[in-house]
Amino acid sequence: MILIDGKKVAGDIKKDLQREVARWQEQGFRPPNLVAVLLGDDPASLAYVRNKERQAKKIGFNSSLIRLASSTPEEKLLHLIQSLNNDKTVDGYIIQLPLPAHINPHNIIEAIDPDKDVDGFHPLNLGRLLIGMPSFIPATPYGIIELLKRYRIPTDGKNILIIGRSLIVGRPLSILLSQKRPEGNATVTLAHSHTKNLIDYTRQADIIVTALGKPYFLKADMVKNGVVIIDAGINEIPDPGQHRGYKLVGDVDFEQVSKKASYMTPVPGGVGPMTIAMLLKNTFKAYKNHLKLA
Ligand code: GUN
Repeated sequence: MILIDGKKVAGDIKKDLQREVARWQEQGFRPPNLVAVLLGDDPASLAYVRNKERQAKKIGFNSSLIRLASSTPEEKLLHLIQSLNNDKTVDGYIIQLPLPAHINPHNIIEAIDPDKDVDGFHPLNLGRLLIGMPSFIPATPYGIIELLKRYRIPTDGKNILIIGRSLIVGRPLSILLSQKRPEGNATVTLAHSHTKNLIDYTRQADIIVTALGKPYFLKADMVKNGVVIIDAGINEIPDPGQHRGYKLVGDVDFEQVSKKASYMTPVPGGVGPMTIAMLLKNTFKAYKNHLKLA
């Protein structure tokens, strides 16, 4: 089994970006600027956005985190979005999901300037993605495609099963992998909580992407020998041995499934680091577009 080292690939991508940022700054341009917005104080979400901010700064970006109370009215968040849209020093920004229940995420996503939508969640970017036009590709699917590419894992003609139909991972990934292009051309099945007899699909699959958020969900008896496993699950499970009191595990029972897989991503250190690297790549793209418009 070959372990897919997302941490290493993400490190290479960030190093390349850092070099490019330095080159642009030598030519007198300001650094790229990524802003993250978080409502509430969910510890996991806070850890994720802080990590995004820290890694952006590490490669020479400006980055800041705007924190608002979870009780913030939708109207107030829409005002903040307008000011971020109008702020010429902001290249890209993300509104961390999920949002509190009183806020309609559709209203929020639709208010984001598509040119600053480095998450790629705006209908214009998702529409562009659907018809194969250049767009911001959501960071996690983008990272998964990049891992498959760099490890030269062919997708052409393969049976790929994606478990989980979220906006953030499963749905956009199903579109990318079924597109008529080298990193696509797969026969994609998108399974979800209403799928019947899932095991009939998992046993047929050449590549399985899990993005459902259930620890140790995929077991060895569910997969065929030689399967490629991309585990996009990030689940916290209690672990008194860790100083934080929990550890991160994926949706796949690594111990079991690694004995049958040909390639496999670990958790942590697989898809997770790639998500941040691709978010930074999207922000750098927004920055370059921005400077050209200026
Ligand atoms: N919540 C979990 N993943 C993501 C992501 O990639 N972007 C945003 N905005 N929220 C998330």
